[in-house]
Amino acid sequence: MPFEIIQGDITKLRVDAIVNAANSSLLGGGGVDGAIHQAAGPNLLLECKTLAGCKTGQAKITRGYNLPAKYVIHTVGPVWCGGTNDESKLLADCYKNALLLAKENNLTSIAFPLISTGAYRYPKDKALKIAIAVIGEFISIEDMMVYLVVYDKSSFMLPEELTLSIKEYINEKYTKEPKRMFTGLREKTKYMVQELDCISDSNMELIDVVNQLDKTFSQGLLCLIDEKGMTDADTYKKANVDRRLFSKVRNDKYYKPRKSTAIAFAIALKLNIDETNNLLKKAGFTLSRSSKFDVIIEYFIENENYNIFEINEALFAFEQELLGV
Ligand code: APR
Repeated sequence: MPFEIIQGDITKLRVDAIVNAANSSLLGGGGVDGAIHQAAGPNLLLECKTLAGCKTGQAKITRGYNLPAKYVIHTVGPVWCGGTNDESKLLADCYKNALLLAKENNLTSIAFPLISTGAYRYPKDKALKIAIAVIGEFISIEDMMVYLVVYDKSSFMLPEELTLSIKEYINEKYTKEPKRMFTGLREKTKYMVQELDCISDSNMELIDVVNQLDKTFSQGLLCLIDEKGMTDADTYKKANVDRRLFSKVRNDKYYKPRKSTAIAFAIALKLNIDETNNLLKKAGFTLSRSSKFDVIIEYFIENENYNIFEINEALFAFEQELLGV
């Protein structure tokens, strides 16, 4: 998954670079800055002293020393002053410049904390929106694994109205007992028995039976990509799916995706609920009202919001699996 939101301690991640929410002196501090210097050891500070500080919104790179990460990219977020001092542009610059610096150094993976949302008091939901927008745009054109690391769940807040709207939708649609799914299954089994009866009556060769069956998931997906006039790269990037996995789908017509991957492709293709279920069925799945994950997906499809990064943000907030590989 090229962009993933995870909960944890950024100093523990074995990635090419972790990003430090530093101050302009680059001489250490508290919060994630203090944790990174603590874990990296004294040599990090020695190298930082050679950098002559860093301006807000800019980024500088050092080695990682005792950290599992090879490098540290130091950036200085804006202090929140009510939103009238160009804070949103400066915060976006932090993510952009750190990503560009990672690309210049040919790094393949990078992890960000939620910059400025601690001591610098940037409102968490606004900061999150900026982070997701900048990272989402970057990985739509570049090949890099990007993690957004949430240290404590309380620092992860969806915009209030989105949270309320999803909660209302879940209360209205989510049913604990999986009634509909089993009924569907019973109907489907009956239909398949009829199908087999008619086939056995006509003494069709097994190979003809197989050929009569629906297209496989891969075949169905590739047809939809052509129908939508999309490219492979368009599709797997909008599905937040890794390029290598997509080539498996393209080269193996019997490839069996996970449900979250199949749904990610449906989102990338902007399918409606029925089209999504038709595609899922080819992989043996269906959207079910007895799954909170499915109901949240349905919410976004019904609202025609196909931004997979915003959907993952909501899935993360509701402690559900994320979309993509
Ligand atoms: N791993 C991941 N995230 C962390 C960790 C950690 N180990 N420790 C803290 N965080 C999170 C916080 O929960 C917060 O969401 O990092 C985010 C940024 O908080 P701060 O570290 O306070 O950074 P910031 O708000 O950008 O303020 C920077 O604080 O530490 C000083 O020297 C730093 O002066 C600078 C200022």
